[in-house]
Amino acid sequence: MTVTTPENREFDVVIIGAGAAGLMCAAVAGARGRRVLLLDSANKVGKKILMSGGGRCNFTNMHSTSDNFISANPHFAKSALSRYTPWDFIALVEKHGVPYHEKKLGQLFCDRSSKDIVRLLLDECDAMGVQVLTHSPASNIQLGAPLSQAASRSPHRLQTPRFSVSCESLVIASGGYSIPTLGSTGFGFDFARSLGIPVLPTRAGLVPVTLEPKQLRKLQGLAGVSVDTVTAASGAAFRENILFTHKGLSGPAILQASSYWQPGEALEIDLFPGLDLAEHIHTMQHQRPKLELKNLLGEQLTKRVAQRWCDLWLESKPLEQLGKDDIQRVVSACKPWKVWPAGTEGYRTAEVTLGGVDTNALSSKTMEARNHPGLYFIGEVVDVTGHLGGHNFQWAWASGQAAGERA
Ligand code: FDA
Repeated sequence: MTVTTPENREFDVVIIGAGAAGLMCAAVAGARGRRVLLLDSANKVGKKILMSGGGRCNFTNMHSTSDNFISANPHFAKSALSRYTPWDFIALVEKHGVPYHEKKLGQLFCDRSSKDIVRLLLDECDAMGVQVLTHSPASNIQLGAPLSQAASRSPHRLQTPRFSVSCESLVIASGGYSIPTLGSTGFGFDFARSLGIPVLPTRAGLVPVTLEPKQLRKLQGLAGVSVDTVTAASGAAFRENILFTHKGLSGPAILQASSYWQPGEALEIDLFPGLDLAEHIHTMQHQRPKLELKNLLGEQLTKRVAQRWCDLWLESKPLEQLGKDDIQRVVSACKPWKVWPAGTEGYRTAEVTLGGVDTNALSSKTMEARNHPGLYFIGEVVDVTGHLGGHNFQWAWASGQAAGERA
């Protein structure tokens, strides 16, 4: 039910942010008979869901476990994730007749459009009597005393542009900083800080990396080429493609590694994953002695990358002419190729914000703030960040469900 003015300005639950986490929380709280108001500052709900997965929303991952998440407290997400699993969301998707498929590595996408997921969530909210208001940034929030000590059943107050509301439970589902053009302002971080709730340092995650102009010049002309790799940063390694871009490097392996990469560190990119390259060259020297090195490398790296590697660091000659040192040079240039990024493309293109509201300040069971009864934080605003591949939505659903069961 989308309304222009709420029927009642006193609610059991007010949720700030109608993204993935807020929509899920609203439907779950509504199903408990709670009077729920869901506010969003944007002109429509679920904007990130709509643009996710290239318009097809990678809504969960069948293999999602707590190992797919980054947090200062790696145990925090376990409770919510184990109580609302990918299969619970898949059941919801099937209940609504949304067609979907596995793309790869357990990643589930809509067959038609991300709109199916937003529609599903809005239909759930509608069925549970949730009131949804867009164009409604929340401001001037005043937390009341805990319910046990409060004079009113709706101790918390806040302002929307058109009226003020009061509520028993307030849920912050306002996301992080990523993609500011979609309305991400870091509102939830500022609000948490204003209450003295610690916010761990934030930075862009699942984001392309940029290279220095000198390095970029060396790679000029390769933009658009992708290569299968194992890419590692700070001890985390991902078997996926990298993609050369005009600004640096992207592709799933780079996005995954970017969430672990620290400025000043190298990315270690194994261009021949799962292959003993020296051994392979030795074998080929016997089988195809006249084959040029660049053509052998090109079978894995693509012709363009292999040619560039030979121009920059190696000498392409027939395999039969390669000595021990030549082979060692090839291995050093490829296993791994070490790259020192200048930085990342930042929040402008990042899929997620790393860091956020310190999980030590929250209950892992309910997402309620320990020192502020009736206040909850869910989704991306919390210091829990998923790997690429549907894990971030799974966290939004699971944390939304956890808070919705209690708020
Ligand atoms: P989200 O940011 O979705 O929602 C927060 C809402 O709060 C917004 O609607 C905002 O307008 C509103 N808001 C902010 N301040 C407010 C205020 N003061 N008052 C009222 N409302 C306010 N993940 C995944 O698992 N699979 C995928 O395929 C993708 N793909 C993808 C693509 C792109 C381009 C991006 C940027 C991100 C993804 N992600 C993803 C990540 C995923 O989108 C992200 O983790 C979730 O949307 C986070 O959900 P939240 O509900 O926490 O925040």
